Amino acid sequence: MEQKRYVRESKCYKTARVFPPDVNNHNTLFGGKLMAYIDDIASIAAAKHCRRSVVTASTDSVDFLHPIRPSDSVCLEAYVVWCGRSSMEVFVKVIKEDLMTGERVIAAHSFLTFVALGDDKKPVPMPDVIPETEEERKLNETAPRRAEMRKQRREESKQFAGFLSVKQPWE
Ligand SMILES: CC(C)(COP(=O)(O)OP(=O)(O)OC[C@H]1O[C@@H](n2cnc3c(N)ncnc32)[C@H](O)[C@@H]1OP(=O)(O)O)[C@@H](O)C(=O)NCCC(=O)NCCS
Repeated sequence: MEQKRYVRESKCYKTARVFPPDVNNHNTLFGGKLMAYIDDIASIAAAKHCRRSVVTASTDSVDFLHPIRPSDSVCLEAYVVWCGRSSMEVFVKVIKEDLMTGERVIAAHSFLTFVALGDDKKPVPMPDVIPETEEERKLNETAPRRAEMRKQRREESKQFAGFLSVKQPWE
């Protein structure tokens, strides 16, 4: 596909409060809630880049660096950093902001891979991406290595799935 899109064209932002139903027993944001936010915003960035239906193919590890408390806001930023043929890597940055002091720190980050699907639900090619800022360029340059590692992991994952039992406990 000829057309290219700038990283900034896929950028999305979300800011949320931390409410009582969102916290764990430590009174900090529940990891599962944050992971849902991450997948949600990343899928929007992916769809904005290719303007197609997308599915999550994989999520790399989510590194929880700092707890997010009810006195913080949680700010997510997502954008497409690299494209293969039908897959694209989305980076999600999670910033916690202390609402009383304004201090902002990176609380978590994650890379996800999305695949663009055609009307027949099969993977289709998509536009390449053009990084502009220093952060975008650094992430773009380091992406092929991460993609290669995912390829290897995918093969291992397929083999492992073939080994696992699907029997019910009483069978
Ligand atoms: C992801 C999926 C569409 C891939 O389909 P497929 O028929 O196996 O297609 P391919 O093997 O041709 O892979 C298509 C692309 O996805 C990439 N890909 C597939 N699985 C991947 C994985 N686990 N991690 C990273 N990339 C992956 C391939 O490298 C390929 O990239 P490229 O086109 O840029 O070279 C398919 O496995 C699927 O539907 N999985 C379930 C998705 C889902 O339900 N997600 C959660 C809810 S949204």
